[in-house]
Amino acid sequence: MTAIFGVSAITVYFFFYENRSQQLNSQLLTLVQAAAPSIETVKTRGSKSLDKDLPWHDLFSNKEQSLEWFTANGKLLAKEGTYFPTIPLAKHLTSSSHVSTPVVESQGHLRIMTIAVYTNTPDKTTLQLQGYLRVSQSNQRFEASLGQLRLGLILGGIIALMLASISSLYLTQQAVKPMRLSFQRLTRFAADASHELRNPLTRIGIATEIMLSHPEQLKPADVKKLETITLATEQMRCLIDDVLFLARTDATYPPSKQEESSINLDQLLETLVERFKPQAHVKGIDFREQFLPDLFVKGSSTPLDRLFSNLLENALKYTNPGGKIVVSMQKSRQSVVVSVEDTGIGIPSEYAPFIFQRFWRADQARSQEQDGFGLGLAIAQTIAKQHHGEITVSSQVGVGSRFQVRLPLA
Ligand SMILES: Nc1ncnc2c1ncn2[C@@H]1O[C@H](COP(=O)(O)OP(=O)(O)OP(=O)(O)O)[C@@H](O)[C@H]1O
Ligand SMILES: [Mg+2]
Repeated sequence: MTAIFGVSAITVYFFFYENRSQQLNSQLLTLVQAAAPSIETVKTRGSKSLDKDLPWHDLFSNKEQSLEWFTANGKLLAKEGTYFPTIPLAKHLTSSSHVSTPVVESQGHLRIMTIAVYTNTPDKTTLQLQGYLRVSQSNQRFEASLGQLRLGLILGGIIALMLASISSLYLTQQAVKPMRLSFQRLTRFAADASHELRNPLTRIGIATEIMLSHPEQLKPADVKKLETITLATEQMRCLIDDVLFLARTDATYPPSKQEESSINLDQLLETLVERFKPQAHVKGIDFREQFLPDLFVKGSSTPLDRLFSNLLENALKYTNPGGKIVVSMQKSRQSVVVSVEDTGIGIPSEYAPFIFQRFWRADQARSQEQDGFGLGLAIAQTIAKQHHGEITVSSQVGVGSRFQVRLPLA
């Protein structure tokens, strides 16, 4: 669009420039041709005779033009007008008639046209050079109108570009609208479907729980089967919860303002660590924490709890017995950084760009037959972003991983 307008503007400008130049040249030519016969008079009777014999001032369309008469040797005979050029006379003029082809020059604001005037010799066989006539005209008006045209084109360009941008923005929005609508419908469907799946799952869970609460009425083989059903139901419930969380986050566009309050991060993490310590103990993992008191962040506690739970679950899941997990806090300017470090299996560097993707799991994680769907980090990252924060990771295979959550302080 900009290129089209630019090319059109340049074309208009040069068309106008050429047109006006030709107009000025033909004005000068008319004047100089009208003055051509006077060279004889000026040569014989002197310049004083000009006013008497020819009404020169009537020839000038305005005070911006001037005329100069020269002999065949280029000596100035007379001059009329206001502005005169200071450049030497152009004598390299060719002729095929009484008046030569004009030479157009310019000097500063002056446009200059020179012609050579010829007369027939008495025997009328050859032409004899009588002298030269030079007419000059100020270009100032022409340049002023070019300036106005330039300004007009620039202003027109700005307005046209603004209109083009507004209309393209409008058209893009119109084009994207159906896509956004269908995406919203899809995410809403995912959210609704996940929500609806929860009810039958809860009923299955309750039924198996009741049956397992009376094991004496069951055959031992059935108890095993029911336990498998309970475990699978629990896994399915976790998956549905995770999918529902992500689907709801996607469906709410623009993101809805969640209920925010000042959360004491130290307290939240203390509670969380107490919940995870028994699991670490059972697995034989050394679990340590180093917290800083009275650091507050803006947000809501349930999702923040979920964020750090997912990181701690991973640390426990991917660290072998005898390993170590350290949860610590650092204050950095206007934010707090919570680090979850482990001495676990680590993440190969080529996998680092994928770990926050939904349903992505490293081959190692799959091969170790660890439970999981590959949603924990995607959820953690979503929550961190909802709180205007971010999660970064550094890891080395066989050495361990460090996940850092940066959150702005309240
Ligand atoms: N602390 C860690 N050490 C080693 N690998 C990790 C660690 N945390 C995450 N990963 C790798 O990143 C993958 C994605 O993690 P994420 O938490 O999203 O999924 P998951 O733990 O496999 O399943 P889910 O969290 O849904 O139960 C994991 O499968 C694992 O390969
Ligand atoms: Mg996980």
